[in-house]
Amino acid sequence: MKRIIFVSFLICMFAVIGAGLKESNAKRQEITFSNQVVRIFQQSCQVCHHPGDIAPFSLMTYREARPWARSIKEKVILREMPPWKPTEGCGDFSGVRRLTDAEIQTISQWVDEGSVEGNTADLPEPLSFPDGWTLGQPDAVLQPEADYTVKPGNDIYRCFSMPTSLRGDRYLSAVEIKPGNRNIVHHVILYIDTTGVSKQLDDNDPGPGYTSFGGPGFDTTGTLGGWAPGFRAQFLREGMAWPVPNGARIVAQVHYNPRDTEESDRTQIGLYFTRKPVKKDVQAAPIINTSFTIPANDPHYRVNALFIVPPGINAHAIGIAPHMHLLGREMKVEARYFDGTKRCLINIDNWNFNWQGVYDYKEPVPIPQLTQLSLTAYYDNSENNPFNPNSPPRAVRWGEQTTDEMCIAFIFFTLDSQNIEPSQPRITDVFLDGDKLTIKGSGFLSGADIEVDGHRLVDTKNHKKKKKSSKELTSAGDWKTWAALGRQAIITVLNTDGVRSEAKSFTP
Ligand code: HEC
Repeated sequence: MKRIIFVSFLICMFAVIGAGLKESNAKRQEITFSNQVVRIFQQSCQVCHHPGDIAPFSLMTYREARPWARSIKEKVILREMPPWKPTEGCGDFSGVRRLTDAEIQTISQWVDEGSVEGNTADLPEPLSFPDGWTLGQPDAVLQPEADYTVKPGNDIYRCFSMPTSLRGDRYLSAVEIKPGNRNIVHHVILYIDTTGVSKQLDDNDPGPGYTSFGGPGFDTTGTLGGWAPGFRAQFLREGMAWPVPNGARIVAQVHYNPRDTEESDRTQIGLYFTRKPVKKDVQAAPIINTSFTIPANDPHYRVNALFIVPPGINAHAIGIAPHMHLLGREMKVEARYFDGTKRCLINIDNWNFNWQGVYDYKEPVPIPQLTQLSLTAYYDNSENNPFNPNSPPRAVRWGEQTTDEMCIAFIFFTLDSQNIEPSQPRITDVFLDGDKLTIKGSGFLSGADIEVDGHRLVDTKNHKKKKKSSKELTSAGDWKTWAALGRQAIITVLNTDGVRSEAKSFTP
């Protein structure tokens, strides 16, 4: 009997000690900036909230974050920050920037408990934001001829038309946009111009570029995607590429967010040529309605658009980019398959013109023949819409101006049946013609490049420019960067479709 009492007494002791431990654990696990909050900021906020970037203040350190605590709590609860527009449960996107409920809870509890700094020994390694090309040195860099000066005032949408000069039709496996001044570059959208109209628009507007609000001001054959703060450039999946026709211009539409003082910017576009055989083009098609009128004072006006995939066409969507102007409030795009099933492609229930994006799917989404791609958008043309550009409201139709509207979702896709025939570059002879490295053979596409030990020679020239493929390539001097007299080098030819010839060794 005594023994039993003793044992139960011991158990009680342990229970008491255990509870005490738990309590002090909980005290130590108090939510502080240093132990938990900064880790959320690192993952979801600092990419914009660091000195010199788009956000108006830094969230890198406790001192910088502390004064904003109340506002931080409010913005994360309202899900206004971090800005990520697609709603949950519709479309499985890569690079999703959305806080979990638990993270929001952590931040608001931290604020409610007095936004404590905690022990600086708990701090993680600080992040750094280097300013280089994240995908490595591009094969070609495009940029406007001069810096563009942004004066204090309203937001500006400026288009810069740049020649590509790529010696032939090219395939790109990636495009990286590098803002010159992250303080003012809010987002960038790239368009392809095969008409030359963008050059006229650029020439007619004084200073670098031309101002154009909605679209780029010409009929574009496609876009090459875009950039917004926090966006990470990626290579396309192997076998896919963006086609850039010979002689095309690339137009970068930059949304500037002016500051209190004059700032300048020259945003650069890095092009990465494909190094692997291309099987499929990445194409863009709009689901679009251009014939609507939004009545004045209607706070919830619906506009629909429908695209039915023609019989015999089977495709896969790799991304989607909704586009409206200032009256836009909601946009949903759904795929209705022929068998009656549905799939939600994107849903934005709180549209904001300033936070537009190109959203990439984690896995390509099948869009087989006869799929109905249906778009439903709502517009608020009432006095209560703070973005309404007309006061008093007036009826609004499709157009390019700030005061007009648009209703589009661009779908980026590849065709299942497309299987681009690979070219067949062949080297028969390599020799020096005076100072010129000369390659003879066959099947060299215009734009084909000589490679020495895997390095692309940037001064490669085709002998016969006009023909689709040629039999001779030369390099006037760049070959000396990679080869030396008397040393054996491996020569290959890389065609613009990513097909590489067999290697030939050569000793200059
Ligand atoms: C993609 C860039 C980006 C990310 C990521 C981001 N912000 Fe912001 N944030 C901005 C910009 C830009 C503004 C200025 C207002 C605007 O344009 O919406 C802003 C404004 C704010 C404001 C309002 C400041 C004010 O004037 O009241 C708060 C608070 C804020 N951000 C907190 C956060 C927090 C917390 C996170 C992460 C959980 C975060 N932001 C992530 C870009 C970003």
